[in-house]
Amino acid sequence: MSETQNKGLVAVCPGSYDPVTNGHLDIIRRGASICDRVVVGVVNASLRKMAPLFNADERIEMVQQAVADLDNVEVRAFDILLVEFAREMGANVILKGLRAISDFEYEFEMHQLNRKMAPEIESIYMMASPMYSFISSSGIKEMVRFGGDVTDLVPPHVAVRLVEALSSQSS
Ligand code: PNS
Repeated sequence: MSETQNKGLVAVCPGSYDPVTNGHLDIIRRGASICDRVVVGVVNASLRKMAPLFNADERIEMVQQAVADLDNVEVRAFDILLVEFAREMGANVILKGLRAISDFEYEFEMHQLNRKMAPEIESIYMMASPMYSFISSSGIKEMVRFGGDVTDLVPPHVAVRLVEALSSQSS
């Protein structure tokens, strides 16, 4: 039997999700429509980023609520190498979204590192849908912090949590 035989797609969709946006959900939903199973991996703490606004449990709960209608999607925290997490989850794919050329350089580096450590796990990139190509969690936090309307950019329960968290920071 050929080693390249399709064993079905089990994807890990990793990120900080601080908080989850409609852009993330676009990729997760499109991924769920072509994969047998999607595991959304919420990183506990990223070395490359500042401390998150929401703790891991809060971020997981917000993603879970947003994907509750998708039977083949589950949400897990991780604080190990992404490729180790993917192996633990039985995943053969890392699925990520690309918004613009500016994402490419970072994702290319990540892809090379992950491929070196785990050549058996394929990374797949989906282009963001045009209406979400400008959305980032950090941009959304800044908008809310200064009173902007994020209604079309995040699920309603996330918008509520953002206002609660960021309005308490203003003085
Ligand atoms: O949403 P983000 O912050 O861009 O997601 C970054 C994430 C979670 C994908 C990245 O930080 C990651 O993979 N972290 C786990 C540690 C790891 O495996 N790093 C890459 C190889 S050194």
